[in-house]
Formats: sequence, C-alpha cells, structure tokens
Amino acid sequence: MSLDEIKIIQLPRILDERGNLSFLEENNHIPFTIRRTYWIYDVPGGETRGGHSYKTNQEFIIALSGSFDIVFNDGKTTRTYSLNRSYYGLYVPAGLWRHMDNFSTNSLAFIVASTDYNESDYIRDFKRYEENK
Ligand code: TYD
Repeated sequence: MSLDEIKIIQLPRILDERGNLSFLEENNHIPFTIRRTYWIYDVPGGETRGGHSYKTNQEFIIALSGSFDIVFNDGKTTRTYSLNRSYYGLYVPAGLWRHMDNFSTNSLAFIVASTDYNESDYIRDFKRYEENK
C-alpha cells in the first residue's frame, strides 16, 4: 500500500449561529462501511499511540478537539499529517505503518474503522511490517 493513498477529506460544515455541525456517511464521505468507532483522549504530554499497521482495517481519523499528528513510515519515506479541525479527517488505507504523537492538551482523536477489533489484524513489529509490505 502506498503513502499516496492517504487522503485528507473535508467533511460537510453546516454553519449556524447556534453552533456549527458536521457529519459523515459511510461509503459517501469515507470510502468504506463503518464497523467500529473508538476514541483516544486524556493523552499525557509527549505520549505516542498507535505504532503499528493493520493487514485489512481501514480508518478515518478526526481531531474532534485539539490537535495531534499522524506520522507514516513506509521504510523509505516519513510523512506527517497534522489534524486540528473537527471538519477534516484523514483516510488511512490498510497496510501502512503509522503512529500518532504531538497530542495537545484535551485533544480528542475520533477514529472510524472498517473492521471489528482483531489483534491478529495488527502488525506491531516494524521489521515484520517491512518484510511483508
Ligand atoms: P491499540 O490499538 O493497540 O492502541 P495503541 O496501538 O495506541 O497501543 O489498542 C490498545 C488496546 O485497547 C488493545 O490492546 C486492545 C484494546 N482495544 C479494543 O479492545 N478495541 C478497540 O477497538 C481498540 C482500538 C483497542
């Protein structure tokens, strides 16, 4: 899988004096069917999460609050995406090594996933990832 398949996707924004609203629909704004969501919060300063790749799981990651970086490494190139708006998300195809860092205070990472949680879908060893990609 190539880093070029990662996509920043802008979600609809319904601007309103009462407060703004955004939304996403499966197979419309994001290119997969939603199976699961999870969120990462209360991250202490300087911590790193998500150092792994998935064999089949695709994800869409939104900074619902605050900001953080998602860093990809395909063994040759490192590419960093910073998320800091609740109406932008990052589409992450399967098969890419990534980690998340640089979390701001009170940041909230909301992740929409295409598969159930399944530990056997993870590759947690970078060497193994490089050998299998
Ligand atoms: P994990 O995805 O391994 O996070 P990180 O790569 O940042 O360490 O998730 C941490 C633990 O949380 C994992 O061992 C099992 C549990 N977990 C679930 O039970 N369901 C889920 O949907 C997720 C994402 C994690």
